[in-house]
Amino acid sequence: MPDRTADIALTQAPAHVRHGSNIGQSFVRREGVLKVTGAARYAADNHPPGMLYAVVAVSSIARGRVSFLDIAAAKAHPGVVEVMTPANRPALVTAPDAKTNPFAFRLDLLQSDRVRYAHQPIAVVIAETLEAATEGAILLAPRYEIEPARVGLDSTESFVPPVVGPGHPTEARRGDVEAGLAAATKQIAASYETAAQYHNPMEPHAIVAAWDGDNLVIDTPSQGLAWAQGRLAELFGIAPDKIHIRSPFLGGGFGCKGLIAGPQVLGVMAARLVGKPVKLVLRREQMFGPVGHRAPTRQTLRIGVDGDGNLTALDHHTKTTSSSFDDFFEPASDISHTLYKSPAIATSHEAVRVDTGTPLFMRAPGEATGSIALESAIDEMAHACGIDPLAFRLQNYAEVEPISGRPFSSKALRECYLQGAERFGWQGRPLAPRQMRDRDGLLVGWGLGTATFPAFMFEAHAKAALRRDGTGVMEIGAHEMGQGALTALAQIAADGLGLDLDRLEFKSGSSDLPDAGIAGGSAHTATAGSAIHNAGADVVARLAAVATNDSRSPLFGAGNAGVIARDGRLFRRDDESRSESYTDILSRAGLAEIEGRGKGASDPAAQSAYAMHAHGAVFAEIKIDPELGQMRVTRVVGAFAAGRIINPRMVRSQLYGGMIWGVSFALHEQTVMDARSGRPMNANFAEYHIPVNADVPALDAIMVEERDPHVNALGIKGVGEIGITGTAGAVANAVWHATGVRVRKFPITLDRLM
Ligand code: MOS
Repeated sequence: MPDRTADIALTQAPAHVRHGSNIGQSFVRREGVLKVTGAARYAADNHPPGMLYAVVAVSSIARGRVSFLDIAAAKAHPGVVEVMTPANRPALVTAPDAKTNPFAFRLDLLQSDRVRYAHQPIAVVIAETLEAATEGAILLAPRYEIEPARVGLDSTESFVPPVVGPGHPTEARRGDVEAGLAAATKQIAASYETAAQYHNPMEPHAIVAAWDGDNLVIDTPSQGLAWAQGRLAELFGIAPDKIHIRSPFLGGGFGCKGLIAGPQVLGVMAARLVGKPVKLVLRREQMFGPVGHRAPTRQTLRIGVDGDGNLTALDHHTKTTSSSFDDFFEPASDISHTLYKSPAIATSHEAVRVDTGTPLFMRAPGEATGSIALESAIDEMAHACGIDPLAFRLQNYAEVEPISGRPFSSKALRECYLQGAERFGWQGRPLAPRQMRDRDGLLVGWGLGTATFPAFMFEAHAKAALRRDGTGVMEIGAHEMGQGALTALAQIAADGLGLDLDRLEFKSGSSDLPDAGIAGGSAHTATAGSAIHNAGADVVARLAAVATNDSRSPLFGAGNAGVIARDGRLFRRDDESRSESYTDILSRAGLAEIEGRGKGASDPAAQSAYAMHAHGAVFAEIKIDPELGQMRVTRVVGAFAAGRIINPRMVRSQLYGGMIWGVSFALHEQTVMDARSGRPMNANFAEYHIPVNADVPALDAIMVEERDPHVNALGIKGVGEIGITGTAGAVANAVWHATGVRVRKFPITLDRLM
């Protein structure tokens, strides 16, 4: 393969200011006080005058049709204003089932009496109070014509999907896997099952919608304001700029608020129907259906190694589910493209259609699911070879992305393995299982998993200004979903404008600001941050032009030497004793302010030359009661290399959040579908288990230094999703190491371990 690592110049503006004054510091969350005092206004906190309450009635069957609704009874209930059904819902300009682009997922907007999954909206009751709307929805007492529900990975004939995830090829191969397996000294073949997980951010989908003629104002949580605006514009046949979406804070997103969901659109329709502002909030059990989920998988891994323990073949096949009416296929096999070097690698997917809502992106879609299977299989192989699983990974991890053949843009995985192992105290771990006990007699196990996540970028725009009073403003419709974007992006803005953070006004969370792209794919800081950085550079360049062309300025004639922006002043780069404040420059020029714009996007030349990923290594300890099988994760150490760290406090929190989800993936979280009815049986927080404080172990996240000059000018990768990968497998491998029992069905619950 030709060496393409040389001569790839960065096409983006280089960092023009000294970094470190704001970027890299552990500032506390800018909106923290608002949140802890209850002053932060979430979507459902908005109560415009005259607002009515809407409650969705959802289907209790998974497939069939609604044959009767007692609309008269609902309307007769005191306080009920209207019942919205397929018979009277406002007309839509674009059909909810039209696939206008691959990311326009089909929505259930009362377009017919068909039921395609349990908890599908079948009517909306609008009333003067929440109580009346709730009671009205109960009084509808629907009757159905029921058809048998298709449930589970074996319920219907499978097919090969056209693409997986966001348009990735279904199959990929390099080399000859069968030959590699035939030539192997040792082979393993094993199947792993992962459960469906349903989206449950703390804040359910909520919307307050108000029409004023053809203008629409809505308050709703969104990870993608411009996309939501575009989808609503298309559905209602109005110009996007007639729609104003306010989303200052999200109570979590995790992918389910990346695209506007059906129930949010129903809120807008309800407001149009009654001609008044309407609030609609999903109840917890209503989250288990119309807002996306992580589909279940059955993954078959076949691995071969030679006599030295080097991989000769890696085959990763995934079977998953999608809905009966739309296409989203969990790309679980794709993780095997990037982690381990093998002369032969094949990845493939197949799917069946079942009667559920359409699966969608959920934090590390594909990577989380694939990681637990791949890391389990790698662990099984290491132990089959009698090699320590860390040593096995150190000899087999890839330095060039195996399937694409592209070198990694920067790679610190080896450092992650070494630093994580050191901090955890991995050395001396007995190779055989069931060798360690604590002083209470509990079995102790140690497991390892490799973490990875692509370093994506979307496209974002930002607008900035420096004002004569020495303050600045950065405007970008960015998304604060709890991850710390407001803080980290403001830090980038302050450095970009050469201002102290307290002189900066940072405007975000609203669709009338420049499009920040989607807050997903762990790409928000890189994408929005690049737009902000470039907008800052643009304003500073314009200000510098004013100063360096003015003979009265100490910066006059700086010309090619250029200037540095810092602390509200421009300094000559070649002589920092010559400087001038923004205020003086603007005052003398008679300008109230000076504006600039910036765009953030990936660099296609760098993208085609390099594979771009964040990496990590996660080490877990578990203690298990030998009689009862009760499991408790006691320690998790993760070492992650994710490029430039803008705010270590926020990043640590993101990594911890991901690692906790990894524990959840391995031991707790699953949606159990009733095979007879097709209904989720645990659509509540009592029975849908996620780790509570007592389940969360001592966590430690090491941020391994990584300078990646190719991902973007600031060297930022993402940290939102990578924490799940690696961790889930590390916990599963620790269970085996403690007990000698290899559970290949996740989550590993007591009954599966005993
Ligand atoms: Mo994420 S699943 O890209 O919000």
